Amino acid sequence: MHLVTGATGQVGRRIVRLIRDREEPVRAFVRLSARYGELDQRGAEIFVGELEDTRDIQRACRGVRVILSTHGSTGNPQRLDYRANIELIDAAKDNGVEHFVFISVLGADRGYEDAPIFKAKREVEKYLAASGLNYTILRPSGLASELIASAERCRDSGIYVLVGDPGNRTSIVSTDDLADIAVASMTAEGAKNRTFSVGGPDVLKREDIPSVYGRILDREPVVINVPLPVVDFVRAGVGFFDTDLQCNLGTFRTLLANEFYCTPEEIELLESTFGLKLESLEGFLRRYLGF
Ligand SMILES: NC(=O)c1ccc[n+]([C@@H]2O[C@H](COP(=O)([O-])OP(=O)(O)OC[C@H]3O[C@@H](n4cnc5c(N)ncnc54)[C@H](OP(=O)(O)O)[C@@H]3O)[C@@H](O)[C@H]2O)c1
Repeated sequence: MHLVTGATGQVGRRIVRLIRDREEPVRAFVRLSARYGELDQRGAEIFVGELEDTRDIQRACRGVRVILSTHGSTGNPQRLDYRANIELIDAAKDNGVEHFVFISVLGADRGYEDAPIFKAKREVEKYLAASGLNYTILRPSGLASELIASAERCRDSGIYVLVGDPGNRTSIVSTDDLADIAVASMTAEGAKNRTFSVGGPDVLKREDIPSVYGRILDREPVVINVPLPVVDFVRAGVGFFDTDLQCNLGTFRTLLANEFYCTPEEIELLESTFGLKLESLEGFLRRYLGF
C-alpha cells in the first residue's frame, strides 16, 4: 500500500493517478472539504483526515509500504510543512515503511531566513536523511500547473502582471514530469537515498514567460511590472493584523527575489536516472490549454 499526502493537490493528484494506472493500491490522505471524487472513482482508498492531527497521521500510516509526502501549506508552515512531515517520518519508521518520497523545494538548502516553508523543508530533509529510512528527496522549482490560470487570465485580459525582477531565471517544471519522477523514484536504480533538483529543460528569465504565453495565444500580452518594494510595503502593513499571512508573504518574497533554476548537469541527471525527456513549459501549457 502507498500513502499519498496532499492527494488532492496538483502533484499528489497526479501521483495517485499514476499509481492507480499501475493497478497498485494507494491510500489518498484527503480532507473532507476537498474534491476527491475522482480519486475514489479511480480506486484509491480514501482516508479522510487532518495532517495537523497526530492520530490521523498514525492511523493513515498503518500497513503502508511507501509514503509520498506531497502536501503543502497555505497556512502554518510549522504545523504542516514541518511537524506533519516529522510525524509521518516517525510513523514510517514504526510501520517498517520501505521508501519515503519527500517533495521539498529548490533552494531549501540556501538558508533563506525569511522563508519559513524553505526552512521547514530543509529541517525535514535532514530529519529524513538521518532517519535510517530509504528515501528520495525531490526539490522542484515552480510548477507549470501554477501557470495555467495565469495564462487563461492573460488570454482574457491581454495583461500579464510580473512581480519582482524580470531578469531572474527559473526552470519551471512540468507538474506531470514531477509526478512521474516521484513515482519512478520508488524503484529507480540510483534514486535511493538521493536528493534531486527538479526543473524543466529550459532556463527562462521571468520576462520570457509572457512571451511563451504570447506564442501560445498568438498575441503578445502587455506586461505590467510590479517592483519588489511594493510587496515589502504590503507585507509590512499586513504584519499589523495577520502574522501568519506576513510569514507566508516572506516565502512569497523569497520566491520573487531569487533565481530558481536547474543546471544542464542536473537536468541530464534527472533524465538519465528516471528515463524520461523533460517537457518544456510551452509544451505543458499547450497540452492543458488546448490552443
Ligand atoms: N506549487 C509550486 O510551485 C511548488 C514549488 C516547489 C515545491 N512545491 C511543493 O510541492 C508539493 C506539492 O505542491 P502542490 O502545489 O501540488 O500543492 P497544492 O496543490 O497546494 O496542494 C496541497 C495539498 O495539501 C493538502 N493539505 C493542506 N493542508 C492540509 C491539512 N491540514 N490536512 C490535510 N491535507 C492538507 C491540500 O488539501 P486540500 O485539497 O484539502 O486543500 C492539498 O491536497 C508541496 O510540498 C509544495 O511545497 C510546490
